[in-house]
Amino acid sequence: MTDKKRKILVTSALPYANGPIHIGHLVEYIQTDIWVRFQKMRGHECHYVCADDAHGTPIMLRARQEGITPEQLIERVSKEHQADFAGFAIDFDHYHSTHSDENRELSALIYQRNRDAGHIRERTISQLYDPQEQMFLPDRFIKGACPKCGAEDQYGDSCENCGATYAPTELKNPQSAVSGATPVEKDSLHYFFKLADFEPMLKEWTCGGHLQAEVSNKLHEWFEAGLREWDISRDAPYFGFPIPDSDNKFFYVWMDAPVGYMASFKYYCEHSDDVDFDSFWKSDSEAELYHFIGKDIIYFHALFWPAMLHGAHFRKPDAIFAHGFLTVDGKKMSKSRGTFIKASSWLQHLNPEALRYYFAAKLGAGVDDIDLNLDDFVARINSDLVGKVVNIASRCAGFIKKRFDNRLANYLDEPDLFNDFVLTGEAIADDYEAREFGHALRKIMALADKANQYIDDRKPWVIAKQEDSDEQLHAVCSMGINLFRLLIGYLRPVLPQTALASEKFMNIHPLYWNALPQPLLGHEINKFKPLMTRVESKQVEAMLEDSKESLQANDSAPAKIDATDSILQTDPIADSISFDDFAKLDLRIARIVDAKTVEGADKLLQLTLDIGGETRNVFAGIKAAYEPHTLVGKLTVMVANLAPRKMRFGLSEGMLLAAGPGGKDLWILNPDEGAQPGMRVK
Ligand code: MSP
Ligand code: ZN
Repeated sequence: MTDKKRKILVTSALPYANGPIHIGHLVEYIQTDIWVRFQKMRGHECHYVCADDAHGTPIMLRARQEGITPEQLIERVSKEHQADFAGFAIDFDHYHSTHSDENRELSALIYQRNRDAGHIRERTISQLYDPQEQMFLPDRFIKGACPKCGAEDQYGDSCENCGATYAPTELKNPQSAVSGATPVEKDSLHYFFKLADFEPMLKEWTCGGHLQAEVSNKLHEWFEAGLREWDISRDAPYFGFPIPDSDNKFFYVWMDAPVGYMASFKYYCEHSDDVDFDSFWKSDSEAELYHFIGKDIIYFHALFWPAMLHGAHFRKPDAIFAHGFLTVDGKKMSKSRGTFIKASSWLQHLNPEALRYYFAAKLGAGVDDIDLNLDDFVARINSDLVGKVVNIASRCAGFIKKRFDNRLANYLDEPDLFNDFVLTGEAIADDYEAREFGHALRKIMALADKANQYIDDRKPWVIAKQEDSDEQLHAVCSMGINLFRLLIGYLRPVLPQTALASEKFMNIHPLYWNALPQPLLGHEINKFKPLMTRVESKQVEAMLEDSKESLQANDSAPAKIDATDSILQTDPIADSISFDDFAKLDLRIARIVDAKTVEGADKLLQLTLDIGGETRNVFAGIKAAYEPHTLVGKLTVMVANLAPRKMRFGLSEGMLLAAGPGGKDLWILNPDEGAQPGMRVK
């Protein structure tokens, strides 16, 4: 290798500690892990750290809802996250938590240095406050009607119906999503980070080759809109770090989250002999620092974070690498379609390296969204990995074992072909370095085609039957194994587990890039074991089916605090369904024998439904539309075979059908008398 040895620190964004890792997250962790493995294979000193992002209101409320402390919640989730990452061979050098001593100290330090340099301003602001829970409400925990179009049930920051953005105080009939109480406005002292102080530095930095072109362009728009002060404080109760010298104020989660990169690395340095924290973070550090992130969090990483670091006399990142979002079969991941696939569900049904390969094939250096097309996925894994790569080894290994005692020939049958493979290696390395993984894989698969072509031309299975053919057979099969070795070497960052198994088969040390040009000659290999099996569509189908089920089983712990209130809201119907899908629905005539309000629920009525000899307890979000007593005795239609859902107020054993935009404008179905409770609706 001609490159000098580089010192590199790499991070991926810190996943929130209130939900499972899903395949959308994995785009990023797989992308980063491939890049890090590549750097390590090239012989550089490269460290990869991450952590759980453990602070903030959603985590505090989620823990409360589960009846545990935030510390208990984040500890459990951290274990789950790390198990998921390990399952996908994401090889962090250290995985930490933002709720750690290292992070507490570094966050305070960065804050104090900025404050002492005059970059923090205190100012009293007025915010919506939940008088019942005695807490200020983040925008996402306030719901009401959109001030512009009047759509009900919108969040405090923007309307999903008309796209308007507004302040939470502008909502009509605002309600706290935590308690249902009507919020009041209340004053409170807040701490603001004066981002505009850093404008000249940021303008220079963002044009300095640290960002992708699309991202710099976006930043220019933000500069033009003006850099506003950033509120970095929150009032109690809040799960986070207290702000030094403040009166019961806490750092906003996004203030200490990026510091978590440093904190994780700090812990790692303190537990290793030869990695020095300061040499990576001092303002004139020669080490390289890269953050891999999703495009949704660019503002935090390309503006706030460099400014905070600069203000505290630490070095800034060399680059921020943003990626796009994952879609599945061209659409946003959806719980109702079963495409909101958790990492753990994937691991139950499919090979993690298949996903690594597929994502790599789709990943480039830009911020475009990437699509997991499930049919294409199955076809590509089977054709590329099983059909082309692994096949080479299995076609040659048998003869080497049977006829040559597992020993390879001591010369190369076609040195030119081998050299062609070696030379292409540098172009492949350039692609990896530039995060053009799709290009790298295309080059590798073109080589795999050449290797298969070589074997097809030489036909070892024909040679094997000829007399006095030993030498020729030995040469061809040994050549095949040597080409396979190079392919596996090039694929190693993407397929670490397959590479390990292949190295075991070839009886060699882990492949470093600069070891690749030396062929295996006169070398004894081990018995060949299948390295990868075909992917079957039915595995994919089973995983999707499971992902639908796990949503229902998981309902006691909704991701959004108010999800239990909106049981009449489902994803808009986008796709047509088969007759079989329709036939799965068990729709029944039901008589409403009782209806009452539910204490603490602002949209729900509790209904007792008679479906012919059986009664069901159902919570329906129709309170604004009906007085309970007017419903008693009516006939209606329910979905009788919906899996029971555990809700905050009890078990809901089915769902009522209703039509209308919601709120007051909602009508339950009301069949004519004559229909009997229990009758199937067809
Ligand atoms: N906690 C913050 C990051 C703090 S970094 C100092 C956060 N967490 S997250 O769990 O929501 O997301 C973690 C990373 O996964 C982010 O970079 C995000 O962009 C990425 N992704 C989350 N969902 C994704 C997709 N559906 N597709 C691709 N990446 C996605 O943001
Ligand atoms: Zn609206």
